[in-house]
Amino acid sequence: TEIKVFAPATVANVVCGFDVLGFAVNEPGDEVIMRVTDKAGITISKITGDNGRLPLAAEKNTVSVSVQHYLESIGRTDIGLDIELHKKMPIGSGLGSSSASTVAGLFAIKSLLGDDTDVAKLLPFAMKGEEMACGHGHADNVAPALLGGFVLIRSYEPLDVIRLPHPKDLYCAIVFPDVDVPTREARQIIRDKIYMKDAVTQWGNIAGLVSGLYTQDIDLIGRSMKDVLVEPVRSMLIPDFYVMRELAMKAGAVSFGISGSGPSVFAFTRDEETARNITQMLQSHLADIKIASNAYVSTI
Ligand code: HSE
Repeated sequence: TEIKVFAPATVANVVCGFDVLGFAVNEPGDEVIMRVTDKAGITISKITGDNGRLPLAAEKNTVSVSVQHYLESIGRTDIGLDIELHKKMPIGSGLGSSSASTVAGLFAIKSLLGDDTDVAKLLPFAMKGEEMACGHGHADNVAPALLGGFVLIRSYEPLDVIRLPHPKDLYCAIVFPDVDVPTREARQIIRDKIYMKDAVTQWGNIAGLVSGLYTQDIDLIGRSMKDVLVEPVRSMLIPDFYVMRELAMKAGAVSFGISGSGPSVFAFTRDEETARNITQMLQSHLADIKIASNAYVSTI
């Protein structure tokens, strides 16, 4: 028996919702092929698209480690599995690359075993993978990768994940400037104390964004997507972040910000053409400053 599963890239934080908001895009995404074997234990026979950066050793790979946790939880460590991982997006890009692989792996094993419990039950195992990848088990990539669409993590302890609606005609332009920003480090530079004044601004914006998603009010979504806590610090790790923001906003973006912990940036637009124009403008700006990039346009 063999199964092939795709899981999508995700944009975590959605500018104002550090660690609590995320959404999935249609592409890019990662693919996992999983086969049942005769010998108990997990092997990884092949990884493509990672430029040799990911470990084949099952105890070091987030996909196999999460799947192993899941198998232990249901008492099925007797099973033998072989995994092929096909990365279809850059690693360390802020697009939830490790989450997409982990979620695809967990969904694959759940399906192979015919486990028909709610997919949301896989979340804690996927969060273990995140913890291994960057030192912190945040859920704002894994939850939307698993559930699709827009997701709010209302609470981590206990875990309380809520699916949010979103306007139909919302497009997302994503540009990945090819510079290295490891999530682990991008988390270390954030201040751990904040001012009440900033907290008030931030929770007003989060509430405004969630309200805009429910009422399909794209203007409200746009004016709520501001971040006074994390972006001022992390933007320093992204080449010409504020120049790119100005270019995107002038070209008609509804909003612009860092995707996850960066270096990818994203813009919401009301139509596909504007999203394509923005990716072209940003990529040509990055080329001018000698930075290679990838771009994606997606609906949400
Ligand atoms: N919320 C996480 C962070 C997402 O910003 O560190 C990482 O992709």
